[in-house]
Order: sequence, then C-alpha cells, then structure tokens
Amino acid sequence: MLILGVLASGRGSNFQSILDGIESGFLNAKIAVLITDNPDAYALERAKKHNIEALVLKPKDFPDKNAYYSHIAGELKKRNVELVILAGFMRVVGKELIDRYRNKIMNIHPALLPSFPGLHGQKQAADYGVKISGCTVHFVDEGMDTGPIIIQAAVPAYHDDTEDTLGERILKQEHRIFPYAIKLYSEGKISVEGRKVIIKGASKDAVLINPPYLFQ
Ligand code: GAR
Repeated sequence: MLILGVLASGRGSNFQSILDGIESGFLNAKIAVLITDNPDAYALERAKKHNIEALVLKPKDFPDKNAYYSHIAGELKKRNVELVILAGFMRVVGKELIDRYRNKIMNIHPALLPSFPGLHGQKQAADYGVKISGCTVHFVDEGMDTGPIIIQAAVPAYHDDTEDTLGERILKQEHRIFPYAIKLYSEGKISVEGRKVIIKGASKDAVLINPPYLFQ
C-alpha cells in the first residue's frame, strides 16, 4: 500500500477526491499525514473527519525557507511517506523537500501547462481568451510548475467564462485525474526520463482528454 503525505493550503477538495478514492477502493493507498501552512484551511476539517493526522506548520515559525522545508521533509520521512501530494498547496516548494523526494512529489495545477503557471491559472486562461483549458498533474521540480507532466485533461473555455465558471469546469477534471495519477504511480506504471513521463500501457495516439478511459 502506497503511503501518501498531503500538503494543502485551503479548501482541500482535491484532498477530498483522494480520500474518496481510497475509501471507495479505487486507490490502494494510505494518507499518513496532512500538512498545512494555514491554520484556517478547511482541509483540516476533512482530515479530522477521516481520522487523518494533521500538522499546521507555518513558515513564519521557522528561521527561513530551508528550515521550513527540511522540517516538512523530516515529518514526511518519519511517517515513511513514499509520495508527496500537493493538493492546492499555494507555495513554491523548497529545495530541501524536492531533493529528498525527487520525482516523488505530485502537484495539480488548474491550467494546461506550460501555459498559465503560477497563481490563478483559471483566471489567466479566462482573461487570455483561450478556447481550451484544463488541468495538469506533474512532478515538482525547482521551477514554478515546470516539472515533468504526468496527465492532463482538457475542458472547453467560453468567451463569457469567468475565473469561477471556468474554474468549476476544470475542478471536476482535477478530481478525476489526480487520484488517477496516484493510482498509476501506486501500480508502478509511471517512470520519468528527463522531462518525459512514460506511462506503461498508455496508447500512443491517445490525447489525454479522458485519462481514466485510456487505460482500460
Ligand atoms: C485547485 O484548483 C488547484 O489546482 C489549485 O488550487 C486549487 C485548490 O483547490 N492549485 C494551484 O493553483 C497551485 N498552483 P482545493 O483546495 O479545493 O483542492
């Protein structure tokens, strides 16, 4: 069983989608700990409800970014976490954590990377006027949303979309592809070669619009 550690800063609906995936038997995984940088994160309520240990770790309580992320890495290692999940963790992760979990940290981003990295990917896409947007699950490297891409899902974007309307459409796909990426990882189907993620069993001509159906 794959041991996960989840980092989240807010509402935690992606955290919930992973909890649901585990509880329904879709995912053969266990969440060892939820770590948040925000004492008011709704993700904390979700952890409590599902009996998941939760830690509130605020960067301002640490001397610097290095100390913060090396402490987080220590807490994860202590619990034998094998894969780190950034589920709406609104910070650029420090090198100490990335080095100790190279290609073992997954992030969900609400845009089709490499377009619209950083904050408010949904708003950036809506304001830009793209016709297709979506979401991306990728491994985390030192850059801002630049790591190897694991899965993407696309949604239509309309001229009258707002951050919220487009965001809602994207979020539905986030809740599908994030548990799915974790499942592929837990089954040993994901490998990384440089920038490229190879998924065992994925058909070559498939566009990753409906990832869950690709592998059946
Ligand atoms: C999600 O839309 C996620 O993609 C985004 O924050 C939201 C968190 O929602 N993440 C980023 O923008 C990271 N750069 P949630 O707390 O309900 O999962």
